[in-house]
Amino acid sequence: MNTQDCYAKAERILSEMSLEEKVAQMLQLSEKADTKELFDKFKADGTLGSYLHVLGEETGDFLENAYQSKLKVPPIFGIDAIHGHALLKSATIFPSQLAMACSWDTDMVEKVGKVTADEVAADGLNWVFSPVLCIGRDLRWGRIDETFGEDAELISRLGAAIIRGYQKNGKVAACAKHYLGYGEATGGRDSYDTEITERKAREIFLRPFKAAVDEGCMTFMTAYGSIDGESLTVSHRYLTEILKEELGFDGFVVTDWENFISMVRGQHLFESMDDACVEGIVAGNDMSMNSPDFYAALVNAAREGRISMDIIDNAVRRILRVKARLGLLDGKRENPLSRDIIGCDEHQQVNYEMSVKSTVLLKNNGALPLTDAKKIAVLGPNATDVRAQYGDWTYFSHPNSKPHETAKDCTYTVLKGISEAYSDSEIIYAQGCSVLGDEDAQTSERWMNEALDAAAGADACVVVIGDVLKQNGEKRDRANLVISGRQIELVKRVKELGKTVIVVLINGKPLELGELEPYADAIVEAFNSGDMGGLAIANLIKGKENFSGRLPISFPYSSAALPCYYNQYDYWHGSKYVDVPKGSPYPFGFGLSYSNFVYGEPALKETVLKRGEKTELSVEITNDSANCGIETVQLYFRDKICKMLTPVRTLIDFKQVTIPAGESSTVTFTVDTERLGYYDRDCKYCVDAGEFALFISGDGKNFKEITLRVAE
Ligand code: NOJ
Repeated sequence: MNTQDCYAKAERILSEMSLEEKVAQMLQLSEKADTKELFDKFKADGTLGSYLHVLGEETGDFLENAYQSKLKVPPIFGIDAIHGHALLKSATIFPSQLAMACSWDTDMVEKVGKVTADEVAADGLNWVFSPVLCIGRDLRWGRIDETFGEDAELISRLGAAIIRGYQKNGKVAACAKHYLGYGEATGGRDSYDTEITERKAREIFLRPFKAAVDEGCMTFMTAYGSIDGESLTVSHRYLTEILKEELGFDGFVVTDWENFISMVRGQHLFESMDDACVEGIVAGNDMSMNSPDFYAALVNAAREGRISMDIIDNAVRRILRVKARLGLLDGKRENPLSRDIIGCDEHQQVNYEMSVKSTVLLKNNGALPLTDAKKIAVLGPNATDVRAQYGDWTYFSHPNSKPHETAKDCTYTVLKGISEAYSDSEIIYAQGCSVLGDEDAQTSERWMNEALDAAAGADACVVVIGDVLKQNGEKRDRANLVISGRQIELVKRVKELGKTVIVVLINGKPLELGELEPYADAIVEAFNSGDMGGLAIANLIKGKENFSGRLPISFPYSSAALPCYYNQYDYWHGSKYVDVPKGSPYPFGFGLSYSNFVYGEPALKETVLKRGEKTELSVEITNDSANCGIETVQLYFRDKICKMLTPVRTLIDFKQVTIPAGESSTVTFTVDTERLGYYDRDCKYCVDAGEFALFISGDGKNFKEITLRVAE
């Protein structure tokens, strides 16, 4: 059905709806104690707009009742398919968003979106609450693992790619979240206030959301927090004026979980739910996630004339249009995709490829590739911990934590991956310690001694450490980003035995690595690597695969020396803290491989342009090694003299190129003067005349610079 037909169908249904039916469309419910009564009522009468966290096999009754109802409008089923349809145990569970971002590979990320949406649709659901487009610049924030990292350009490109993938089969809507500024909350505190101005929002935080609108993302989710003291949930400026009117978003906006309740109980903005709901809808939210009182509050407000019917109609219209575009208003239909595709081999192959590309080599003193080792000790708490490897938002953790859930068999932990990749070697395993160090002293000593015994007889040791779910996620911000428990001691004591030590990090966010580094011959960062992570890591360690991952986020020297993201302003009173080195030990863009890429000098086709013109920048790259590899070529700029402060560098483009051993390749970028601008203090985008530095880099540490002049 084309857009016009969809809109006409939505309009016809809207014209037949009662007030109660309209408001019911604007509500989404999950099943829990305080929603139970309403949940059951709507389940029976079939008029609710949406459910969340209902899995496929449970959808039948809801649909049946909807098709029996007067309007025959089925609910849209939303699910937190954050890295795969991972709340369903049998689904393909991909690396976390942060891990996927290490690939810098938009095609792969799009494929992940497509596989996820196909599994979601096969499960009878039609809406994924993904992607997270928050900018992950405060590493203390508990949800860093859910972001695509710290840079607006990279997030915009990966975000658009995954939305493209999600919406490709035409049966699933994506949801750009959390709009806006959620990741930048002061102190990294989950859902707290963000002290940014509209100018800064435009320069950085809005960019990925604009990319989502341009990609046709069908829904947006309102963040929990506030910007400069105004709750996003009642921000007419951000929700209506900027998102809907200026950016032209034509889908619908859902609040996050109980945002309306939060405005009464948490943010102290309203005395009553009635006022909170009315103001939230007037501001531009179209659907309330949970907040069961919303239904009665809005129906009453409309009856009493406290909210206009036009506002309600506009919200319902947006919801119905999305439903029409997903084919939900076409009448009863069979599930179009077979459940057999869920977790199938073809999907797990995409997952494996994604995991290979999501893994970053941070350090290698020659220990890797580990080609021949007769006896390998696999040590460390995260070598076998599927929960830690998955990270957040899986069947272990949501909707509620499930401590007794067991892992599925097909998941490759690092131990399983190493055992398969090195099937001719002897593999011994010992845990060594826990991540949190919360075991009793006797157990702790026993674990450490068992690991040291295992290491003593091995040719090489792969020590898998990092963090666990308790240290990541909603409401789990960390003030201290050290590697916890006795994990560093384990690495140190294994190294003191004179062994080759390969450290694999499985963790949700960048941690301080300074204390660990002297004892590690190689460091592999895998973040939360999904079902196939262990096999990908093992094949990379062995050299069967080459590393190509690049960091989408900078690592800290110290938890106290934050922020450490790369695109900061110059630090003009001295250049660093007196007691911590400047910058980041492993910055944005960094990553090693088994190839060695040598950059020539960049060249510009024209060195002087007028505003609005474009030119080409080329650079020759030689793979001076015996291994074919993928290089991620990064293009940054800086306006040399600007009326507003400008970051030391800003990423404007990147390209990936595969270069066979010993060969060269020329990579060409189009440089558009329109991309070299900034927002002035009146929030106006300007490109000034003058000199611009363009930087080319393959690792975020070494840069080749060339100057472009923009004439008056
Ligand atoms: C809370 C989270 O902030 C959001 O990301 C998620 O999609 C919803 N709840 C639904 O679970």
